[in-house]
Amino acid sequence: MDVIESAEDLRKRLRDAGRVAFVPTMGNLHEGHLSLMRVARQHADFVVASIFVNRLQFGPNEDFDRYPRTIDADCAGIRKVGVDVLFVPHEQDMYPQPQVYRVQPPPLAEELEGAFRPGFFDGVCTVVLKLFNLVRPDVAVFGKKDRQQLKIVRGMVQQFNLPIQIVASETVRADDGLALASRNNYLTPTERAEAPRLYRTLRKICDAIAGGRTDYANLEAEGRAELARSGWKVDYVAVRHGLALRIPHPEGYDHPNLLIVLGAATIGSTRLIDNLDVIPKEGD
Ligand code: PAF
Repeated sequence: MDVIESAEDLRKRLRDAGRVAFVPTMGNLHEGHLSLMRVARQHADFVVASIFVNRLQFGPNEDFDRYPRTIDADCAGIRKVGVDVLFVPHEQDMYPQPQVYRVQPPPLAEELEGAFRPGFFDGVCTVVLKLFNLVRPDVAVFGKKDRQQLKIVRGMVQQFNLPIQIVASETVRADDGLALASRNNYLTPTERAEAPRLYRTLRKICDAIAGGRTDYANLEAEGRAELARSGWKVDYVAVRHGLALRIPHPEGYDHPNLLIVLGAATIGSTRLIDNLDVIPKEGD
């Protein structure tokens, strides 16, 4: 695996690469990221991963400087999954001047995650577009765990006519259901034992919908109450239509097959997100 830091070296290395699949990350990698890279390998002859901690997607109260930089451990993990190039651009090369031009994502970017992390998706879309322009992949793989990010990036690719296939990769979970996330490292042992409740709460709502309930607002309130009773600070528990992430029809006209349930809540000082398809299915 080549570790490449400059856009120029990347361009040279990719000249005869053939079909390229790309996995952008911010590092601090876990098995979930590695599974994205394995999926990438199924879609192309040449796999590029990137590690870049993107200042633009951190809010003023989110600690960009304290985000874990674990490049040696990350490289060791990536080598196991057969990535060809790891692109690790420097901040001064990605943002040589203040990035005053930004991608303006659609109104969906102000809901769910965006309601609690203003500007987050502007930052994500802006860096992803820049990385796409540098890597010029044929395929890019994004995890379903960040479902809203996946939708918004997919929409950006469609609306800017980027010739890139966006592939959705399944969420990787611990045996107790907890979705793997870099932030799980911050959990104390007691919080780690409590953390799968988010998954279980979403699962319960999915099962209720699959069983015929269509009173989504009640189900969301029940989910929020269950988490709050166990000491969580809940940002949202939301039933949405899986395609556009719109609010489902209150009369229950949306087929349960198409619905998903998303949640974000904080245990201790660690904010976790997760989502589930009401009826589990591969891909997206
Ligand atoms: O999902 C992430 O890790 C980041 O949001 C991404 C897509 C790498 C952009 O910085």
